[in-house]
Amino acid sequence: MEKEMILDDFAFLVSETDEKGIIIFANDDFCKMAEYSVDELIGKPHNIVRHKDMPKAAFKDLWDTVKRDEVWSGYVKNATKSGNYYWVFATVFPTITSDGKKGFLSCRRKATRQEIDEHDALYKTLIAKEK
Ligand SMILES: Cc1cc2nc3c(=O)[nH]c(=O)nc-3n(C[C@H](O)[C@H](O)[C@H](O)COP(=O)(O)O)c2cc1C
Repeated sequence: MEKEMILDDFAFLVSETDEKGIIIFANDDFCKMAEYSVDELIGKPHNIVRHKDMPKAAFKDLWDTVKRDEVWSGYVKNATKSGNYYWVFATVFPTITSDGKKGFLSCRRKATRQEIDEHDALYKTLIAKEK
């Protein structure tokens, strides 16, 4: 049975990708929640933490937004390496990487119980429509 993992109140999970969504940076809080070492994450597509309950529409919206050079924010349910999950409120920014290329940076904080429950229900209806 999957277990919900709850973020610490002040946890701040950061990851950065290249233009294609390949992870180029992850901070300690991100690695800790995802249960991967930083070496296991760097070079992998960011969907390594994708949870099956996330609708495609959410990520389409994320990518469409940041590719227009705008900031996206939304609620994301991620899978941990051992098969559990955690919810975050994420803000994704277009950025310039340390080697001068275009990239994206995501900052995540704890979502409240109410925010989680609302988005859990919303995403279930979106997934049902995608099937
Ligand atoms: C900076 C950045 C951070 C992302 N963070 C996550 C994340 O935490 N969890 C996730 O499932 N997808 C995240 N994504 C979206 C993934 O790149 C991917 O689109 C998503 O996991 C869906 O997988 P798919 O494109 O293979 O269907 C992120 C994308 C970017 C650009």
